[in-house]
Amino acid sequence: MKKIIIFDTTLRDGEQSAGVSLNIHEKLQIAHQLARLGVDVIEAGFPIASQGDFDAVKAVAGEVRGVTVAGLARALEKDIQRAAEALKPAERPRIHVFLATSEIHRQYKLKKAKEEILRQARESVALARSLLPNHPDVEFSPEDASRTEPAFLKEVVEAVIEAGATTVNIPDTVGYAIPEEYASLISYLKKEVKNINKIHLSVHCHNDLGLATANSLAAIGAGAGQVECTVNGIGERAGNASLEEVVMALHTRKDFFGFSTGVNTKEIMHTSRLVSSLTGLRVQRNKAIVGENAFAHSSGVHQDGVIKERTTYEIMKPEDVGLTRTRLPLGKLSGRRAFAEKLKELGYAHLTEKEIAEAFTEFKALGDKKKLIYDEDIEAIVVNTLEEAPPVYRLDSLRIDCGPGTTPLAEVRLRTRDNKILENATIGDGPIDALFKAIDLVTGIPGKLLDYNVRAITSGKDALGEVSVEVDVEGKSYKGRAISLDIIEASARAYLNVINRIVQKTIGTLED
Ligand code: KIV
Ligand code: ZN
Repeated sequence: MKKIIIFDTTLRDGEQSAGVSLNIHEKLQIAHQLARLGVDVIEAGFPIASQGDFDAVKAVAGEVRGVTVAGLARALEKDIQRAAEALKPAERPRIHVFLATSEIHRQYKLKKAKEEILRQARESVALARSLLPNHPDVEFSPEDASRTEPAFLKEVVEAVIEAGATTVNIPDTVGYAIPEEYASLISYLKKEVKNINKIHLSVHCHNDLGLATANSLAAIGAGAGQVECTVNGIGERAGNASLEEVVMALHTRKDFFGFSTGVNTKEIMHTSRLVSSLTGLRVQRNKAIVGENAFAHSSGVHQDGVIKERTTYEIMKPEDVGLTRTRLPLGKLSGRRAFAEKLKELGYAHLTEKEIAEAFTEFKALGDKKKLIYDEDIEAIVVNTLEEAPPVYRLDSLRIDCGPGTTPLAEVRLRTRDNKILENATIGDGPIDALFKAIDLVTGIPGKLLDYNVRAITSGKDALGEVSVEVDVEGKSYKGRAISLDIIEASARAYLNVINRIVQKTIGTLED
């Protein structure tokens, strides 16, 4: 059975989601998990965009094995050189070059004629190819391909194949395509482009009209061999085609498509939760495959049907995406072995002894305050323990004074990486406002709160609380999250999570 190549761009296009900014430590965690998930290509970033992106691509290239690691580059010499440099340690490097080809982009963004675009595309692919002499793996994307005149698109694709591209991607950059139309474009290229069968033809769909998965599947039906997608469908604007939807559609409807993927579907849920936790982007409850309700049958008729015969209302088995049906909670008397077994069951078999020990300490501390510890609590603890890149500011203590008839006051003490104690206090419109203002005073980084959410990780009054915040700092938005039994403490730590990201990351911006 023909295998479809799964190209994951969670760390590049996914990270372009508004407010998402992953540090190198978080990117590595996600990249390792993507390798365990079984994707074929990980697009780890855009090396010229910032020093942080360069370092992350280099780290993923150096550490993650068994997959191709791609780095994005505009069709410019400096971008391509930088991508090649970042990808040097990769086992299987790929340079992904893009250049817009549609009339709108040519006229308004690039101000270039067709001939110039053709020349630039050809030269940049040839340069990329020359920089990977031992691994001839160069992908070219004619950006906004779906709005490009088909005859010109054909010319561009032919030119880059001649120049040495090994994969040509046809992006629906603005999510404008309709499945039948996009499939026709793929069929047209398959039929008309010289040597098209010598390369991998790829698709990359955005979800502006909610059609990214449908378009990707239609394109596969028309002959595309690679799909670009992201975990939970995160990405620029309305996001990208969702990896779990594309993979599970191919898996569930093998009878229709007749294609396989290398993805271990049992790792899907775990990957989805990890990406959601680290990006701060919550998965909507009714999201296909990975939403909380995706396998929940609430009406009596459906429940009755599923009890009599599962397939009456279930087209996929929850176990196939990594949802376990048995959910025995642990408690404070559970030992290290039971805890380690539970970690394995939840998909954390790869943790080192040191990481297990750290998570076990957190688990015991939680066990002192909370009777039953559920799978979701344990996952939250692990993600929280692993994600900690050495923060610049740590919460040492806080005190809040509030209540009817009083002006809310917050006192905050932070500890810096070099063990200095910094403290300040201030009043605010409410306890959270006062708390965040006090942190601003200590760090000297003024943030504007755009969004604030609290959610209980499990049910019950003693549930762990997860606080997610979105904060604007100097016109750029950042997301942060933290968990604690005390939601005021979780709020302070979520806010500090943002501040630490800003201090740790060098931010770069580019124009096309
Ligand atoms: O959407 C798009 O066109 C892209 C390209 C860089 C592939 O993300
Ligand atoms: Zn994209």
